[in-house]
Amino acid sequence: MNDSAFHYVDGALHVEGVPAASLAEQFGTPLYVYSRDALTRAYRAYADACAGRKATVHVAVKANSNLAVLNVFARLGAGFDIVSSGELARVLAAGGKASNTVFSGVGKSAAEMREALEAGVKCFNVESIPELHALNEVAKSLGKKAPVSLRVNPDVDAKTHPYISTGLKSNKFGVAFGDARATYREAHDMANLDVVGIDCHIGSQITEVSPYLDAIDKLLDLVEQIESDGMSIRHVDVGGGLGITYDDETPPDIGDFVRTLLAHFEERGHGQREVYFEPGRSLVGNAGVLLTRVEYLKPGEEKNFAIVDAAMNDLARPAMYEAFHRIVPVMERKASARLYDVVGPVCESGDWLGRDRELAVEQGDLLAILSAGAYGFVMSSNYNTRARAAEIMVDGERARVVREREEVKQLFAGESILPD
Ligand code: LLP
Repeated sequence: MNDSAFHYVDGALHVEGVPAASLAEQFGTPLYVYSRDALTRAYRAYADACAGRKATVHVAVKANSNLAVLNVFARLGAGFDIVSSGELARVLAAGGKASNTVFSGVGKSAAEMREALEAGVKCFNVESIPELHALNEVAKSLGKKAPVSLRVNPDVDAKTHPYISTGLKSNKFGVAFGDARATYREAHDMANLDVVGIDCHIGSQITEVSPYLDAIDKLLDLVEQIESDGMSIRHVDVGGGLGITYDDETPPDIGDFVRTLLAHFEERGHGQREVYFEPGRSLVGNAGVLLTRVEYLKPGEEKNFAIVDAAMNDLARPAMYEAFHRIVPVMERKASARLYDVVGPVCESGDWLGRDRELAVEQGDLLAILSAGAYGFVMSSNYNTRARAAEIMVDGERARVVREREEVKQLFAGESILPD
């Protein structure tokens, strides 16, 4: 299992102290289930390694924006990283503070900038010169100064899936490294901007430390140049991106990762610099599973299919990135296993959740799709007019609904037909 919160007791999968089968019985399937303990341990691993240093953790809301999940982190003192005013509203509703929130994203609208400035966010991670101008204008209209950091594209290879690699020249993100120094001067000259930091985010599901060290080296070279130009950079935001174990990946342990990066700042003579982290997946990914029930088994000449009640609309990652998620039985069976493709009911061949999986299953059995806490529910859709799954948080022996299952009538509540 990819996190100790999910474990078998006498052949029955448990989430902390609760049998997964009883959750499925009580709340139905497909069902996202999170473990408060796993969320807490992952956050503490970051926070403990930051202790005693000027280093702070900003949870990337995009990975899992459920209010209960955000609230677990807010109670632990987390900051947040948002990419829309919608995510800002969630942070505030979950008890997070705007003053502890950084606003990332390549296409912030003027309205979003206004909301975030009025709320008092800690920093705007700006990605282009036109965005600097837009933010300066909005800040001027409100009589405020907007705290800014430039997202610099360090052009390092994060060695991850091309769709989730963001630090290369060919990506849409950030200010090109070669333009950054001049862009800082430009920002500095704008009356309603306050240059406070620098940031990067080189990709996601990164399982090695070296791309980070390369990126930090480039950023610190730039910081030295910018400061020699007379500006002061208070913080360096290294982004998120630390990978998790889905299958047989061996990413660095969170604490080791943080300590290695912070040590690198010291080695470079920047030990006093404030460092921000923006982790998403490594906080929530292995803290959640998706429970699903086998509707039908369909043996075939070339393939056997296990058709389950979860689909690509519930968990898009396999269809979208050919991502691997372990799939395990909720009740272990002694029977011999066969190879199955685990697929959903959506009318697309791309609707698969796992391929060539060895499973001992029968119709009606429950399966758990592991490592589904990050980019799972948040990327789900209503394709095929499928209502989205419920979300549950387990805390010890207790389980609570933290998002009700959608009802079909909600899906077209805002639609109307022509009068004539
Ligand atoms: N900061 C910024 C600016 C980001 O763009 C992201 C993620 C993060 C932090 C958090 O990265 P993490 O620690 O979660 O890797 N949907 C894809 C992942 C997209 C990641 C987008 N950016 C997936 O399912 O693999």
